[in-house]
Amino acid sequence: MRTQVGIVGAGPAGLLLAHLLYQQGIESVVIETQSRKHVEERVRAGVLEQGTVDLLNATGVGERMRREGLVHHGIELRFDRRGHRMDLHDLTGGRAITVYAQHEVVKDLIQARLTYRGPLVFEVEAVRIEGFDGDTPGIHYRSGGEECEIACDYIAGCDGFHGICRPSVPAGILRVYEKIYPFGWLGILAEAKPASDELIYANHERGFALLSMRTPQVSRLYLQCRPDENVAEWPDERIWEELQKRLETQDGFRLNEGPIFQKGVTAMRSFVTEPMQYGRLFLAGDAAHIVPPTGAKGLNLAVADVRILAHALARRYRDGAAEPLERYSAICLRRVWRAQHISWWMTSLLHRFEGGDGFEYRRQLAELDQVTTSRAAATVLAENYTGIPFELPGEKL
Ligand code: APR
Ligand code: PHB
Repeated sequence: MRTQVGIVGAGPAGLLLAHLLYQQGIESVVIETQSRKHVEERVRAGVLEQGTVDLLNATGVGERMRREGLVHHGIELRFDRRGHRMDLHDLTGGRAITVYAQHEVVKDLIQARLTYRGPLVFEVEAVRIEGFDGDTPGIHYRSGGEECEIACDYIAGCDGFHGICRPSVPAGILRVYEKIYPFGWLGILAEAKPASDELIYANHERGFALLSMRTPQVSRLYLQCRPDENVAEWPDERIWEELQKRLETQDGFRLNEGPIFQKGVTAMRSFVTEPMQYGRLFLAGDAAHIVPPTGAKGLNLAVADVRILAHALARRYRDGAAEPLERYSAICLRRVWRAQHISWWMTSLLHRFEGGDGFEYRRQLAELDQVTTSRAAATVLAENYTGIPFELPGEKL
């Protein structure tokens, strides 16, 4: 099989890249190790920045998101048993976030891919990439018991943190920056009406907690836990009890409880690969970087990467321009580090760190006090939370 761009991985990065390339008249083939059902049901985060929403709408895959997504104009920061609303809309001159689960975006992109009959192969095995340091990149894999090969001009490594593309780059080329946090998040989905219309990020002596939602009937809740926490030790009653404590307020706030139908623990890390390209291989999304989920930036960063990559590939095919592709990594990394900073900052502002004499907690309260009383400080949070602009100052794609 021959194509222009071979895409490894059908997560949001790979699927959106295929869609953007299709719109530019560029052919691609997407291969994925998991089944369609698996990727369509994989529970992940669910906050879309304004720029992500605008891009999905502009490229014709936003119809269901417009109907079912929940548009939020603010979030709440809760500490010292009091809530403080951050008016994102007012602070950013009209921007908002949309709560719409990542796997719903994935379903919409798969649907689009099938509608225009773009090649998308699930359940492939033994994926291997080669030739990207020269002019003949190739992707090898097994599908339905047969050995297959895709010959292409470029390879997009959209295969997530545990994929094979990043480790296929020869040793000594990539530099990795990493920070592992001493905690994780225990996340649940529950059939319970969200107790707030907007997200609540809570700093509590017992640890961080977050109230989010999926629909007006389904709550998505998280609580800070050990990175290796065993979910089996968390029966539903214990989860609700802990969430109630961490989200308590002076005026008697209570969560609505209901049957929990999904539970999982996510470890938290910050991770960046530099550069994000080598020869004719381009890494995008989680294959190149991971952020802790506190700022809800993971999906949005993946979207920004593939937008830049699709643009650079279009310039290459349309005008023969090599320079945008050469600058791919540099352009992405500027935004990636901005997102790393905001994600790390929100994480350090809201979580309990072990040990010490309570200095860190007092420092967090002082910072939260500033963020919720100074318009300048609140604006920094609101601008970053609603989205780092696609084109940063001084940058022309
Ligand atoms: N060959 C083909 N596909 C692979 C391989 C492989 N060797 N290894 C992994 N994959 C697939 C995975 O099964 C997954 O479907 O690549 C896909 C990568 O998708 P994601 O992990 O969702 O990563 P990405 O598309 O970059 O999206 C980033 O996902 O983890 C969240 O917080 C993150 O929201 C962000 C988003
Ligand atoms: C979610 O709804 O899954 C969610 C919301 C906000 C975050 C992370 C995850 O910061």
